[in-house]
Amino acid sequence: MDNFYRLAPSILSADFARLGEEIRAVEEAGADWLHIDVMDGAFVPNISVGPPVVRSVRRVSRLVFDAHLMIARPERYVEAFAEAGADIICVHLEAADDLPALLGRIRSFGKKAAAALKPETPVERVFGVMDRLDMVLVMSVEPGFGGQELIKAALGKARALREFIRKNDLDADIEMDGGIGLDNIGEVLDSGVNVIVAGSAVFGGAGPAAAVKKFKRIMADRVNGY
Ligand code: DX5
Ligand code: ZN
Repeated sequence: MDNFYRLAPSILSADFARLGEEIRAVEEAGADWLHIDVMDGAFVPNISVGPPVVRSVRRVSRLVFDAHLMIARPERYVEAFAEAGADIICVHLEAADDLPALLGRIRSFGKKAAAALKPETPVERVFGVMDRLDMVLVMSVEPGFGGQELIKAALGKARALREFIRKNDLDADIEMDGGIGLDNIGEVLDSGVNVIVAGSAVFGGAGPAAAVKKFKRIMADRVNGY
């Protein structure tokens, strides 16, 4: 079986003065996707980057760009992120006025559509729109900041979602974001998650490339274990 696990380093913890180099390092080390956290200071109490940064890094990377929009009224900006070069556009279920329509619009741009759930949002709330989703992002910390501790209840949500996907013969990815490191990735993968976001565990230490290789080794061993 093909390796269906993906590692998506989050640039939120990268050194923005050296962003191109940081991305090149994780790309060469074998990262699959690049997770780009977009924060507006309204939906979450922090501000990060927007379409101009996505457009710039698009020119220096071939990674799949996974744009996680932590913004109020995301319908205003999905087109801008699509044009800037995002491949996957993830909107928060709690922020969208009309989620089914918004997911349809994202796909109409030729992009993959994803919905994110805050820790307190019941996972059942995505079940009704699964036919419009390429991926569900289960947040395992309160969105807004890197370097927080994983909230264990997220694992139960991923398990329920994997079960729903299996029962209904769907093939959506399950991504988890927040507090994942080499110490707990095992239990995250056990819960049915196949896309791992890691910010501080990749960029927060001395060597992002070495960290990526360690994550990827664990993921590869899983597949070999099937
Ligand atoms: C938090 C962001 C995360 C963050 C994860 O709101 O969505 O993607 O970068 O950082 P770590 O891996 O350090 O928890
Ligand atoms: Zn994120």
